[in-house]
Amino acid sequence: MTVIYPEAEQGTVIENLQIVRGPYLQQGTSSSIIIRWATNAPVQGVVWYGTDPDRLCFKHQETTITSDHIVKLSGLTKDTKYYYAIGAVAGIQIGGTEDYFFVTAPSQESVSVGLRPIRIWVLGDAGRGNDVAASVRDGYLKFTQTRHTDLWLMLGDNAYDTGTYEEYQRGIFDMYPQVLRSSVLWTAIGNHDAGCANSQLQTGPYYELFSPPTRGEAGGVPSFSAAYYSFDYGNIHFICLDSYGSDRSSSGRMLNWLADDLAASRQDWKVAFWHHPPYTKGSHDSDTEIELIEMREVVLPIVEEANVDIVMCGHSHSYERSYLINGHYGSSDSFDEQMKKDGGSGREDESGVYQKPLLASHGGTVYIVAGTSALADHVSPHPAMYTSLSIPGSLVLDVQGKRLDVKFIDCHGQVNDYFTIKKQ
Ligand SMILES: [Fe+2]
Repeated sequence: MTVIYPEAEQGTVIENLQIVRGPYLQQGTSSSIIIRWATNAPVQGVVWYGTDPDRLCFKHQETTITSDHIVKLSGLTKDTKYYYAIGAVAGIQIGGTEDYFFVTAPSQESVSVGLRPIRIWVLGDAGRGNDVAASVRDGYLKFTQTRHTDLWLMLGDNAYDTGTYEEYQRGIFDMYPQVLRSSVLWTAIGNHDAGCANSQLQTGPYYELFSPPTRGEAGGVPSFSAAYYSFDYGNIHFICLDSYGSDRSSSGRMLNWLADDLAASRQDWKVAFWHHPPYTKGSHDSDTEIELIEMREVVLPIVEEANVDIVMCGHSHSYERSYLINGHYGSSDSFDEQMKKDGGSGREDESGVYQKPLLASHGGTVYIVAGTSALADHVSPHPAMYTSLSIPGSLVLDVQGKRLDVKFIDCHGQVNDYFTIKKQ
């Protein structure tokens, strides 16, 4: 429910009530968003919001008293910058300034024709709360400067060592407060997150802290699971899988849903992410570990059948990026040159961008391991990979219409790898 904001409430300070987590943004669409935060005591939470930071015209008040605040704003205008403040019935606690804002998702049409570029930030194995994570964050912020991050993804192992509330506080909420309050975060679960979480029961801190869409609230086929889900943003369809605690068999619920979801999508781009990589020779080996083998053998044929463009994973603490490939489901020694749809760099100024037909099956996929957002370990070359680096960093995806640019950014904001895919 929204009502006109009473001016008298602005600036009121609430004694002894503290925000202990957030605010952070979940499940953003072109017309809705979820704002979450936690307080040190149970109160009836309130969000004030509007398109002018000096006049937050709208208000949404929780109907129950809680310490864990989950407020869904709906009826929003697409591709619009909203400022917000959070607090309780007594008044605003924080926000109402230029740096507390979110931007609703643009329409598919405006992005598809290239009128509205989209920037996506991607972190893998980030949850150590250490100096490396901070420097990777700062490297990205230096790179992006004033360019807004439309959304960001975490590829799992978001909180070391066992995914406790304290580890999420250190690994995420204390590490990325600026991005959390202005860009919607979408997470995949990793093995470390699963230390204190149960994907079958969907209990534990990971499932308590994040609000992914389970019923198609942001587009896509409902998964009825918070462990795996999909959503649309502009002209991109995102798929997040659980490579650890959910059934990975081809007859299981997750992969049945995946096939249905991919078949139903009509977006220009399909981007999938999960934790355990199908190809890696980093701190983990995709030839020997069961999660990695099954994701390759069972999931990749479904993904490639649906012409998914990019698959991003973590788990290995390395940066590994493939050629544009198709059909490699065996061990690394079975990779052959015919599996390369394009064996070049994918760089416009070198061998040329990767080209794909807009509507096709098995048009080629680029696989990326980006697990160095808090630690970089030794890596050896996997034959599917164009490049393999042991450098801390994060990924940036820029989508403009039928063009997708990917960059790997280090702690200094420098680009260490880049490639482009174009759709015809
Ligand atoms: Fe992992």
